[in-house]
Amino acid sequence: MTSVSLPDDAELSRRIGGLDLESKVRLLTGADLWTLPAEPRLGLLPVTMSDGPQGVRGTGADPDATGLLAPAPSALAATWDAELAERLADLFATEARRKGVDVLLAPAVNLQRTPVAGRHFEYLSEDPLLTGTLAAAIVRGLQACGVAACLKHFVANDSETDRTSYRSRLDERTLREVYLAPFEQALAEAGPWSVMAAYSGVDDGQESAPMSEHVRLLWGVLKEEWGFTGPVVSDWAATRSTVASAVGGLDLVMPGPEGPWGEALVAAVRAGEVDEQIIDDKVLRLLRLARNTGRLGLPEQESALEPTEGPYLSAQVEGSGASALAPEEFALLREVAVRGTVLLRDEAGLLPLQPNSISSVALIGPNAVAPYLQGGGSAFVPAARTVTFEDGLRAALPEGVRLTVHRGGDSRRRPPFASSELLTDPDTGTAGVRADHLDVDGNRIGGEVRTSADWTTYENFGPATDRVVLRTELTLSEPGIHRLEFGCTGRFLVTVDGEQVFAGDDDRGVELVLQSLHHYPPLQWIDVQVGPETPRRIAIGIDLTVVEPGGYDRFVTAQLRHTVPGPTPYEEIAEAAAAAGAADVAVVVVGTNEESESEGWDRAGLELPGYQDELVRKVIAANPRTVVVVNAGAPVLLPWADEVPALLWAWLPGQEAGHALADVLLGRSEPAGRLPWTLPARAEDVPVPDARPHDGIVTYTEGVHIGHRAWDRQELTPAFPFGHGLGWTRWTYDSVTTPYPSVSAAHLTGPAGGDGLQLAVELTNTGPRAGREVVQVYVEPPQDGPDRPVRLLAGFTTVQAAADAQVTAQVQLSARAFQIWDTDLRDWRTPAGRYRLHVGRSSRDLRLTADVISDGDRLHTVV
Ligand code: BGC
Repeated sequence: MTSVSLPDDAELSRRIGGLDLESKVRLLTGADLWTLPAEPRLGLLPVTMSDGPQGVRGTGADPDATGLLAPAPSALAATWDAELAERLADLFATEARRKGVDVLLAPAVNLQRTPVAGRHFEYLSEDPLLTGTLAAAIVRGLQACGVAACLKHFVANDSETDRTSYRSRLDERTLREVYLAPFEQALAEAGPWSVMAAYSGVDDGQESAPMSEHVRLLWGVLKEEWGFTGPVVSDWAATRSTVASAVGGLDLVMPGPEGPWGEALVAAVRAGEVDEQIIDDKVLRLLRLARNTGRLGLPEQESALEPTEGPYLSAQVEGSGASALAPEEFALLREVAVRGTVLLRDEAGLLPLQPNSISSVALIGPNAVAPYLQGGGSAFVPAARTVTFEDGLRAALPEGVRLTVHRGGDSRRRPPFASSELLTDPDTGTAGVRADHLDVDGNRIGGEVRTSADWTTYENFGPATDRVVLRTELTLSEPGIHRLEFGCTGRFLVTVDGEQVFAGDDDRGVELVLQSLHHYPPLQWIDVQVGPETPRRIAIGIDLTVVEPGGYDRFVTAQLRHTVPGPTPYEEIAEAAAAAGAADVAVVVVGTNEESESEGWDRAGLELPGYQDELVRKVIAANPRTVVVVNAGAPVLLPWADEVPALLWAWLPGQEAGHALADVLLGRSEPAGRLPWTLPARAEDVPVPDARPHDGIVTYTEGVHIGHRAWDRQELTPAFPFGHGLGWTRWTYDSVTTPYPSVSAAHLTGPAGGDGLQLAVELTNTGPRAGREVVQVYVEPPQDGPDRPVRLLAGFTTVQAAADAQVTAQVQLSARAFQIWDTDLRDWRTPAGRYRLHVGRSSRDLRLTADVISDGDRLHTVV
């Protein structure tokens, strides 16, 4: 391998100067879905990107590749632990290298503005400081290993409905103090090597544009004011213009090789509409990314295609089976899942369970049977292994403890896929679904027989295929009514026993992908009556026209779902309640599922899907020793929360779900999580109940009062407040002191407060066991000036102490918590007045106070 030192910017510019315009512009659009083009004359190797943030999905080059599936980001945020987030990101970097990935498209630092947002699970928190602190840690963990982070989605892309077209309307202060804040903090503290521009647009009163063209925010704020030197990458298929995006600050168009730049951008430069220096700047930013990730070698030599001796080298090897994964990697995923689990309530001292005094456990609930381990959409990772709640409990419970499992009613609107055992290839009479691939003239040019009734985004056909025609025979035996549901995308025809039953004509191309309709096509159903004597055989034909989703692979979608006559949900609930009554302990796992939490749409409401509320009520009536576990990434209403003895929030816990839950239930580890968002008690209290655009605009009317700030301002009581979580022990908060009598406001100008104001909080673990506490500090700013939150999170840290031990928590306070963005000054300032600091265990459990006075220049401690 050739060894050279890393070229500096001047050397990169010199290399760029040797390229013609076409060659430079070629580099600015992806070579394919995930990879940027190589350029031997620059020594540039292909740079490969992949989605996070629940793991590293990989590029799909090996369709069977699997990998590590971490808890979803909102679970990580519930640990409130930057050091743990950094360790997890370090593991992601190892995984990225295994999968040949140089840039992880993570972390996602949009805010949980509304609890119904589809990507709520994928964002960290409703709070800018908690989000920014964890995001910075993730960036540090990745980049310390030479894998680039891509901070996304810049900015104010906080909901999904019409996400490719809406514009967020918010004033400058709200933008600066809330939505830009986590980006600014992560940038200042950890320097991400790339940033992704959002699909949506922003109207901040000064400029209204899609984010891929937003001159003021991309150029003005991100690059010039904050000094970001890496590339701004488009969100996938988000770029709609040539000149506006090129001059607006976008640097790389993904995916490729098609797209609005290419020849059109070359022509625009030649016509004088885009300065060539702008192109050079984009290439320079790309080369910096390549340099940082070990993807830059010597120009114009064969040896250039060997990585240089950069700090890290990317191993371009796709695919990792479970065998490549180390036990300590699984252990870290399990630790994150445990540490994020929030003990919301434990009234009867039921938890942790004492395994030696239990002889039977009834594990109940739709999510006990089918756990929801990760959110849907681009963040999806095929897991190398999954440990279900049942697996985890079985492995952990002592031998002899009886574990029974009961669904207690399905919570999905969509029935399961038809069983492959019921499908017969009509041509051969053997099992399967026959697929014929046809060209534009209707000639058969290929095909295969598949066993599954699930053809969600099926791409296994050649470029000349225009249609895929499926045929199968479905055998229905159980007497009664069978419901058959068909889900197809784009243009299609469905026949049953030769008669056309459904047709579709949706030619929206890429929009079908961006709205997740390739995974969740609308369903159309028919009922089939089967008599008691003979099974019925139904001939099914599905004729699908291949969808052309520009940028993404061509695909068809076909799903056949089947409801077999069986017990009603109420019968299943009654059976589960009876089992609960007969067991020593009932563990009910309720939650969301792939129909609720996903990229591509927002939820319609906050209720648990299906009959789960009814199920919980029946089970707690049958057995007072019931633990309810919520398996969801985003808030759901728990109208029975005050009636359950013990309540845990277990998030979308990733592959180690079952082990983590068993660790917690049996007390082997402490559930040390704290809510990173507010859990509403009633839908009507939610400050921003939905984020549907009106006339294409999402208006941020609540201003700076996001999440818990709004709940405090409106003096509403949530089910559980932001920051809440109990753990296995109890804490007293003994004293708070500030080490300095006064701090210059100038010290507080960095987004994170630099070496500014610190608090020392003494607390004592008065409970029976060692424990971990998240010490939270909220600042109550003066209310006599500009509109400010009643209280805002100003700092936090986690500490551990043995039973009966005292510990001192050092909490660094964020400068931004004291400051406002002054739109006239165009700068930050700390308004004069008294700032009361509240120290506590949640935004509503405030134990100690200290005051500081700002005279505008200095903050003085009041003793
Ligand atoms: C998502 C991004 C993701 C990209 C690539 C987009 O639809 O918004 O978060 O990184 O796809 O999969």
